[in-house]
Amino acid sequence: MPETVMDKLVSLAKRRGFVFQSSEIYGGLGSVWDYGPLGVELKKNIKERWWRSMVHEREDIEGLDAAILMHPRVWEASGHLAGFSDPLVDCKHCKNRFRADDPRIKGTPGQPDAQCPVCGTKGSLTAARQFNLMFKTFMGPVEEAAAVVYLRPETAQGIYVNYLNVLQSSRQKIPFGIAQIGKAFRNEITPGNFIFRTREFEQMEMQFFVKPGTEGEWFEFWRAERLTWLQGLGIRPEKLRWHQHGKDELAHYARDAYDIEYEFPFGWNEFEGIHHRGDFDLSNHQRASGKKLEYLDPTTNDRFLPSVIETSAGADRTALVVLCDAYREEEVEGEKRVVLQLKPSLAPLKAAVFPLVNKDGMPELARRIHDDLRGTFNVFYDDGGSIGRRYRRQDEAGTPFGITVDGQSTEDQTVTVRDRDTLKQERVAAGQLAAYLNAKLAG
Ligand code: GAP
Repeated sequence: MPETVMDKLVSLAKRRGFVFQSSEIYGGLGSVWDYGPLGVELKKNIKERWWRSMVHEREDIEGLDAAILMHPRVWEASGHLAGFSDPLVDCKHCKNRFRADDPRIKGTPGQPDAQCPVCGTKGSLTAARQFNLMFKTFMGPVEEAAAVVYLRPETAQGIYVNYLNVLQSSRQKIPFGIAQIGKAFRNEITPGNFIFRTREFEQMEMQFFVKPGTEGEWFEFWRAERLTWLQGLGIRPEKLRWHQHGKDELAHYARDAYDIEYEFPFGWNEFEGIHHRGDFDLSNHQRASGKKLEYLDPTTNDRFLPSVIETSAGADRTALVVLCDAYREEEVEGEKRVVLQLKPSLAPLKAAVFPLVNKDGMPELARRIHDDLRGTFNVFYDDGGSIGRRYRRQDEAGTPFGITVDGQSTEDQTVTVRDRDTLKQERVAAGQLAAYLNAKLAG
């Protein structure tokens, strides 16, 4: 089979240290991935950018970091125990398990005509059964039903159960929001496409609490804000589109929902959702906990349960969008090169410093420049191999600038700076490099 763009991206991600398969030396763990030295920087840059725009740059949003483990009644009240499930069928012959809507299944599961897509046995598929996607574990020393707790399948519930704590301690007034970045877990049945659908992932979620009756305007406001933010990551606008959920697609908590989709190499798919959750969550938690979660409007003395507009993005899926969008194969001076055209402010490494040759004072000057810059920027020193090969390695890592110390540098303290995308080289005074990089990394 020919290598697909995704195959190439997965192998580049491993080669350059972005993403590795979890527990690889044991054969890997299904759909769980680890971020290597460059991947952790890329994902951190995305998360920090999200946090800055959501929390630091807005007066009406507060941050939160709730625990992954929560009281099991949270998931009863939120509807996840009853409703967060996929319909599954089993093959009684080969023991494989499929989603009931798997397009490879011929016939009707549970009926004699149904054929297993893996072993081909006829009549071996069970009728569909609901399979809950939450991971279960036990809290404390006893493994019994009363000790079951769940790994959260979304970060949002940690926000709802803390909404009054945050409101009261921050002295916010409605409308206001709570933002959180954290791990979520889903026992996905059809995971795949690299870090697109995994069993452990990170979400960047914000719940905006509004007065009932104003949901429509805030829904539109957050749709516009989120698209603008995503375009700020440098993603090509023609690769982004909206998808409004039909009635049959809406999650159990949603009254209206729009996905932001990206055209991945494997097709259009969502990576962020804007959801109108109404008072579904707060009213359920109020009922189940017996604690009043109403808001008292200090100007009108009205009491009401706020409605929620949610923006929910996957940090890993956003990282995949950024990687897919940046991946290019180009012909340069008769040679093929692979380059990640990452927005400089998102790139894991901001610059690499190279001595042209390892003699004549060049390594000493290059080291000095590297050491000066690394207090402020994540920079890399590389003196191994030809300068062409060093440039190519950094192109694949998405490093926007290559700083080369050459024969002239030791005489006049200037260096060349190569731009990853245009390949143009400029001479810059070594003492001006920090200001030069700062200007290029803005935005
Ligand atoms: N709180 C709402 C919520 O969780 P969702 O559409 O189920 O909504 C939101 O998930 C985002 O979380 C998705 O757009 C996606 O980016 C990310 N996500 C969900 N499941 C995922 C998975 N199995 N692997 C990676 N990311 C996932």
